[in-house]
Amino acid sequence: MTGVGSYLPKNRYSNEDLTKFIDTSDEWITKRSGIKFRHFVSENETTSDMAVNAALNAIINAQIKKEVIDLIIVATTTPDNTFPATATLVQKKLGINSVSFDVQAVCAGFVFALSVAKSMMKDNHYSNCLVIGADSMSKLLNWNDRSTSVLFGDGAGAVILQKFENIDKKLNDWGILSNVIHSDGNLYDLLKTNGGVSNNQISGFIEMSGKEIFKHAIDKLSLSIEEALLLSNKVISQIDWLVPHQANQRIILAVAEKLKMNSKKIISTVKHHGNTSAASIPLALDNAISEKKITNGNLLGFQAIGGGLSWGASIIRIGKPKN
Ligand code: ACO
Repeated sequence: MTGVGSYLPKNRYSNEDLTKFIDTSDEWITKRSGIKFRHFVSENETTSDMAVNAALNAIINAQIKKEVIDLIIVATTTPDNTFPATATLVQKKLGINSVSFDVQAVCAGFVFALSVAKSMMKDNHYSNCLVIGADSMSKLLNWNDRSTSVLFGDGAGAVILQKFENIDKKLNDWGILSNVIHSDGNLYDLLKTNGGVSNNQISGFIEMSGKEIFKHAIDKLSLSIEEALLLSNKVISQIDWLVPHQANQRIILAVAEKLKMNSKKIISTVKHHGNTSAASIPLALDNAISEKKITNGNLLGFQAIGGGLSWGASIIRIGKPKN
């Protein structure tokens, strides 16, 4: 993972701003979720626009020419159009040649996309992959439902994955060391939209059983990171930074407690942008790199859960060895 970039739309709303049009308070939102701000796309801004901005930042950060990218995977729940894939629009806007498609696993989308990218890079001839998580969750919010509308925001994050073969044995312990992904369709109704193309031809609004999601999130996030650690022959104390899905500060802290992990090793940016679904992990990652918390060679844990339910985790050594 040699480059990271992110993008947040310019329009930023504080909790106080939301009180002007819904019955809520800064105190309630902060206490229940840790969220203080969220960004919303402007009128003509789309998911692919945010994805392209994040991608360009990741390309600069990786110090590669965009033309070397041969695979683009966009994790999104909020495509520009129902079809084609948003990834093909990103490809067009970047002006490059690549295989391009979307992955849909809602808030777990970025971890699912990493898993697909790793398999394709290993089994096929792809060498430089752009993985993006991008979502315009504001388009799915029902402002008559204050228990969900205050939790989400829009944004995009991107990473560049590069394949280095037979260069140096040192590289064996770099990159995506393990991925685990899971789904349980029996829990479909806990978090979903109340519409869909083949259902009623509308995209619908988010509906969530908050308390049940809360419990599943803590169990499944903890178990999946333990599974990913086992697969990579690492233990929790070796992780330099845990970069969890940024949905809710109470979930982040409860998982840390369950894993007996020092909360100082956890990246949390949920306060600044709320739940941006598939964008949340790369957004938090990019923020932590800009703040010089995460540096080249750090061992990272990613974990996410979302509608489906879908969940998973990855263990990654970021960057590449210095010559
Ligand atoms: N402002 C003020 N009051 C509110 C608001 C609001 N925005 N929303 C709900 N309330 C009120 C309710 O009406 C209720 O009032 P009542 O007691 O008079 O009936 C009271 O607050 C408590 O409501 P609950 O729904 O019981 O609130 P709870 O304590 O469960 O918190 C929350 C709700 C924050 C959604 C919690 O269940 C939670 O954190 N769930 C996890 C969900 C999550 O983070 N999902 C993210 C998407 S999934 C993912 O990405 C992992």
